[in-house]
Amino acid sequence: MLEVSALQVNYGRVAALSGVDLTINDGEIVTVLGANGAGKSTLLRAILGAEPARAGGIAFDGVDITRMPAHARIARGIVLVPEGRRILISLSVEENLLLGAHMRTDTRAVRAEIDAIYQRFSNLAERRHMLASCLSGGEQQMLAIGRAMLAKPRLMMLDEPSLGLSPLFVSKLFDLIRELNRGGLSVLLVEQNTGKALAVAHRATVLELGKVVMAGDPKALAADPRLQQAYLGDGAPAPVLSA
Ligand SMILES: Nc1ncnc2c1ncn2[C@@H]1O[C@H](COP(=O)(O)OP(=O)(O)OP(=O)(O)O)[C@@H](O)[C@H]1O
Ligand SMILES: [Mg+2]
Repeated sequence: MLEVSALQVNYGRVAALSGVDLTINDGEIVTVLGANGAGKSTLLRAILGAEPARAGGIAFDGVDITRMPAHARIARGIVLVPEGRRILISLSVEENLLLGAHMRTDTRAVRAEIDAIYQRFSNLAERRHMLASCLSGGEQQMLAIGRAMLAKPRLMMLDEPSLGLSPLFVSKLFDLIRELNRGGLSVLLVEQNTGKALAVAHRATVLELGKVVMAGDPKALAADPRLQQAYLGDGAPAPVLSA
């Protein structure tokens, strides 16, 4: 479904991604792990079209989207729930959800999907006409994902969705990711919560300083001493794996 090949992205003269390969098959959850500054967010932003590719290519459903503007990629079914959620706190909960559906004309189906989100998250239903700023961090994350779903994506990219959430919301979040995936959604998940991400993913890739240093079966990666040392340990700074 998604084929990233030899992707290079620069910020000025500094390379943030140098030759990254990544494949996502239809219906898969793929997780991308890596220390701070590894290039995870840059990769998601480049797939969305928010950062230009300096070299390499990105194909979606066999179509080369490398030079396609972000709105055209979104129309093809790619969405990004960015780090920090970026919901509009000066709009109501419902207005935020409607924003996710702004490209759709099937208003009746949109209404039904919004009602389904309210059914699932009663906290959002109760606050539907309140400003989104009233929501807790966990509720804001659910709103951000609900809004992204209303764009009817086929690939959802999530950038550190569990960041700052309470343990209750972290498990709700991972349940939701699993459920959306069972419904056919492909997921590209960037997470600090390495253990949970490897548990939910079908495949995993580890980035370091803009390069892929490990990739494969999440169970094998979870058992790999190098990864354990780097990300599953006591939270000590990650050593350089490729050195
Ligand atoms: N807008 C920018 N301008 C210049 N350099 C940037 C910019 N955004 C990111 N970088 C640099 O690019 C590299 C990759 O950053 P990126 O945000 O993709 O990493 P990350 O893996 O998402 O890190 P984190 O875990 O902290 O979110 C880092 O060295 C970062 O400092
Ligand atoms: Mg990041």
